[in-house]
Amino acid sequence: MRIFKGQPRSVTPASVEPRPCGEVFTDVHCHCLPDLDDGPADRAEAVALCRALVADGIRTVVATPHQLGRYAGRYGGCRIRRAVAELSTTLAEAGVPLTVLAGADVRIDERIPDLLESGDVLAVGEARRYLLLELPHEVFVDPHTLLARLAEKGIVAVITHPERHPFLARNPAYVQRWAEYRPCLQITAASFGGGFGRLSQEAAWAFLHAPLPILAATDAHGATSRPPRMTQAYTLLRQRWGRAAARRICVENPQRVVQGQDLAMSAPRGVPGEVRR
Ligand SMILES: [Fe+2]
Repeated sequence: MRIFKGQPRSVTPASVEPRPCGEVFTDVHCHCLPDLDDGPADRAEAVALCRALVADGIRTVVATPHQLGRYAGRYGGCRIRRAVAELSTTLAEAGVPLTVLAGADVRIDERIPDLLESGDVLAVGEARRYLLLELPHEVFVDPHTLLARLAEKGIVAVITHPERHPFLARNPAYVQRWAEYRPCLQITAASFGGGFGRLSQEAAWAFLHAPLPILAATDAHGATSRPPRMTQAYTLLRQRWGRAAARRICVENPQRVVQGQDLAMSAPRGVPGEVRR
């Protein structure tokens, strides 16, 4: 599968200029901290991204720089928390109405349970019940064993962007094997509109049938490169699945992750459809 590094392709007018939809969103996955990972290079770019988040209807964002994988050893939890505090001060001074919380986009690694305990790796916000877990794209690594070890510690995984994973996108039914640990599937908001290509788009919709909680997050990296698409995702979901499902995926489950509450299921029954490519 081709991984789009640049700006997702626009497929509807809503993706060009976010239109108010009357909802206030929480974004649990965003690379908005300056000069840490492949997000904004500096403070000005970070503020521009945060303004784009606000324009997209987002009022709370979890800053989730990459941890482990190729970012292993570069920065720990303390550095991320300090960067969040600094960005919050900058946003307050700039009049950008956005609450920033600390988190991380953590590459799968057997050391994660210990690193969570030491504070080197961050779960989401102050509740710290949910952990964003990223699988490598080059090869499929089944997280089942790690999900079990995290569950022993009361931690629930949020599997980031499975619709962009070459194996999972073609085999969306595979995620049923993890159901006993009830991990959440985080679909990239832009994927619903085709921003990461057709395979990811079809998989994004197929995952809505999974017997697991679903939420949408931006995984935004910049105001113009990998921008947020939450309003677009909400609008498309409302058109195809109705307002209640759109709210559950874009509004309620993201809020519950931040608050450390149980998540609502997106589909009462059914399995992900097969995606052929
Ligand atoms: Fe990410």
